[in-house]
Amino acid sequence: MTDKTSNQMWGGRFAAGPDAIMEAINASIGFDQRMAAQDIAGSRAHAAMLAATGVITDNDAEAIREGLLTVLSEIESGQFQFSTALEDIHMNVEARLKEIIGEPAGRLHTGRSRNDQVATDFKLWVRDQFDAAEKGLLALIGALVDQAEAGADWVMPGFTHLQTAQPVTWGHHMMAYVEMFGRDLSRVRDARKRMNESPLGSAALAGTSFPIDREMTAEALGFDRPTANSLDAVSDRDFALEFLSVASICAMHLSRFAEELVIWSSAQFRFVTLSDRFSTGSSIMPQKKNPDAAELIRAKVGRIFGANTALMMVMKGLPLAYSKDMQEDKEQVFDAADNWMLALAAMEGMVKDMTGNRDSLAAAAGSGFSTATDLADWMVRVLKVPFRDAHHVTGALVAMAEGRGVDLPDLTLEDMKSVHAGITEDIFSVLGVENSVNSRTSYGGTAPAQVRAQVARWKQILG
Ligand code: ARG
Repeated sequence: MTDKTSNQMWGGRFAAGPDAIMEAINASIGFDQRMAAQDIAGSRAHAAMLAATGVITDNDAEAIREGLLTVLSEIESGQFQFSTALEDIHMNVEARLKEIIGEPAGRLHTGRSRNDQVATDFKLWVRDQFDAAEKGLLALIGALVDQAEAGADWVMPGFTHLQTAQPVTWGHHMMAYVEMFGRDLSRVRDARKRMNESPLGSAALAGTSFPIDREMTAEALGFDRPTANSLDAVSDRDFALEFLSVASICAMHLSRFAEELVIWSSAQFRFVTLSDRFSTGSSIMPQKKNPDAAELIRAKVGRIFGANTALMMVMKGLPLAYSKDMQEDKEQVFDAADNWMLALAAMEGMVKDMTGNRDSLAAAAGSGFSTATDLADWMVRVLKVPFRDAHHVTGALVAMAEGRGVDLPDLTLEDMKSVHAGITEDIFSVLGVENSVNSRTSYGGTAPAQVRAQVARWKQILG
């Protein structure tokens, strides 16, 4: 009755099979086989529910359960023959199930559609990735907190416009990234919570007339509840977009830190030494040790943000509910997830292994008139000079020092007095870099005491 070459899932309506090009553009099995475990978990939950609600018999449910376990083990052991003609993971699994258990396989797809099935599988997959990202972030944050604790009082230059601004501490700089990755962590947890609703049972778009129990399948799959609108559930990819945007922001943070490591590890800076384990050499220049891991992490934001943009564009014009366009979601998310996890792990490894060069950091901290603000603040505090005037006087002293090729503490008291008669010997007590950082005790400031307080707070959060 049905043409042998037409599709076994919908062949009843079709006289001929698809053109080869049609098959090529239509198939997603090449990539969505990564959701095999999620697909089988979803089907098992669905079959158990169909039996519990009396839609299928217990015997059929048991055959389906056993058969799905066999399919899973075939996939896991690499024996499974994926077929492009069967388009996607959902139909590949079901077709094989039919080969193994026969007729009961045909009852599995009762009260569901591939539209709610794919949404469920993909959510389960993305949810696992949120969990992996949480782990990766926690490990990276832990490594940064350790660095901060070790160098809570190491002085280094703080920059604005990449020009020396004021001295800060190594610990303070590390803890700045802890705050950034801490926000990423909270975004991950927040998005995971929001997405944890089960689409299964939304069927094609309108729900189903079978007496299904969506609470039951939601619970079996670890969802907090079923989605509340079937049209929305099968056409929603917000969870994937949130994943990609959270990943993009985090990748941007990783990229900024990577950029600093590239600069800091250069011969001109020597602020850090990256370990051999996270560097490469040059095939022609024997002296070179290149920060390749940092550079590649810096580049990852490009593809991750690209994935975010790509999926936004796929989704933006789609009428409700499901359209095949949505099949384009997976490769973007898979690629972004792989690269995000890799970048997190590489950054964690680099941070754990790197050595801050305390002497170079200290030498750089003192250069570039980094304590000019302290000088101005001293005049305000001690001489009660308005800040704007103190700024002006200090500027004149910086110009004098610069003209002579020396630093501020190298000027004599007479030099200082020639610009402002009220300045006393006490001024030299604030010009040292150590004094400068120790004095910045405002909450969240760079003083070692503040850094240690933040380290302690984070250690408690990390547990
Ligand atoms: N392979 C499809 C995807 O990834 C599965 C859903 C297909 N649904 C359909 N009505 N054709 O989106």
